[in-house]
Amino acid sequence: MYIQEISLHDFRNIESCRLIPCRGVNVICGQNAQGKTNLLEAIWLFTGAKSFRMAKDAQMIRWDSPYADLNLSFFSEKREQTARITISAAERKKIWLNEIEKKSASALIGNFCAVVFSPAHLSLVKGAPAERRRFLDTAICQLHPTYIQTLAGHQRALAQRNALLRDVRYHSELIDTLDYWDSQLVLYGTQIFLRRHQFIRDLSIKAGKIYRGISSDREELTLGYHSVFLPQEETDENSPDFYKEAAHRYEQMLRAGRRQDLVTGTTAVGAHRDDLLLRLDGMPAREYGSQGQQRSTALALKLGECDLFGEALGEAPVILLDDVMSELDDRRQKYILQNIKDRQVFITCCDGSLFAHSRGACFFRAKDGIFQGQ
Ligand SMILES: Nc1ncnc2c1ncn2[C@@H]1O[C@H](COP(=O)(O)OP(=O)(O)O)[C@@H](O)[C@H]1O
Ligand SMILES: [Mg+2]
Repeated sequence: MYIQEISLHDFRNIESCRLIPCRGVNVICGQNAQGKTNLLEAIWLFTGAKSFRMAKDAQMIRWDSPYADLNLSFFSEKREQTARITISAAERKKIWLNEIEKKSASALIGNFCAVVFSPAHLSLVKGAPAERRRFLDTAICQLHPTYIQTLAGHQRALAQRNALLRDVRYHSELIDTLDYWDSQLVLYGTQIFLRRHQFIRDLSIKAGKIYRGISSDREELTLGYHSVFLPQEETDENSPDFYKEAAHRYEQMLRAGRRQDLVTGTTAVGAHRDDLLLRLDGMPAREYGSQGQQRSTALALKLGECDLFGEALGEAPVILLDDVMSELDDRRQKYILQNIKDRQVFITCCDGSLFAHSRGACFFRAKDGIFQGQ
């Protein structure tokens, strides 16, 4: 999959730009605050996800402009496709895919695919479990678009159950309805568990391999899954009983914890407490990893995710790397450049000389929201 053309109007500091990237490595270089990350953010929105900077839609419209207009033409599934997004402060975001208007941005998921890595993704390693759950869920959504409904169902069940736990204090007759929300939580929670379990298992292989490459075989990254759904003993994860047992175990836990949940007004156990465990040579990367190791870990997760997408889609997603090079030593940089060059990559940096020897790379100079090809 690759982008043929991007044109943006009134998006952040980009008043108007049209960019025709090459199919390999596109280096966007320029000083700080010129619009490099803005460009990647705009591309990222075409995946159907929210901004990787957690920005609200209205924040992305150029100041004093009524709306932002983003257009992308890309080649995927053996044909040229187009997508358009308009963001307006007054109205809902509008989305078109191949000239057909769609109801929401999620219609883009699975059509245009990208993987992004920015310094903020360090929180994947350093941050709270919620960050890692979000990473898992966003990735799984791109692989299995119906997973969005599973997440929404789980969210609803959890919110309803928690609200009910509090209401029961005043209306004891409501206790009977708890069974229903428990069963909903078991249903959706177990589906989430299975998807995450499978994804972590697959990602562990990919990211582990990439990390070995990044660290020149000196360090080992392993991924684990922390979840109440996991069996205590080894159960064959391919047997149909795996699902049944997980559901049964969770159901029992919910029952056992109900009394306590009624006191706190929240649900103590479930998929909303899962975590992705990251270990370097057996030690938690979050506590023991150096800065460089933590960065390499986050990057290995992202590039591993990219490999999984590539296999699932039958074509490699576009890779967006924001400011990664400045954070890594020479050896690590070299490995990355070697290993991404056969896909379309957008990589931002302040110092383009790093890429001087990258054959076939295209250079764009970013200045005040304008990207000049060189
Ligand atoms: N909605 C907006 N309208 C106009 N300018 C914006 C908007 N949001 C951010 N900016 C400007 O964009 C610039 C930052 O761009 P960014 O892409 O993050 O820079 P960098 O090139 O360092 O990656 C800042 O100068 C910021 O003021
Ligand atoms: Mg930036």
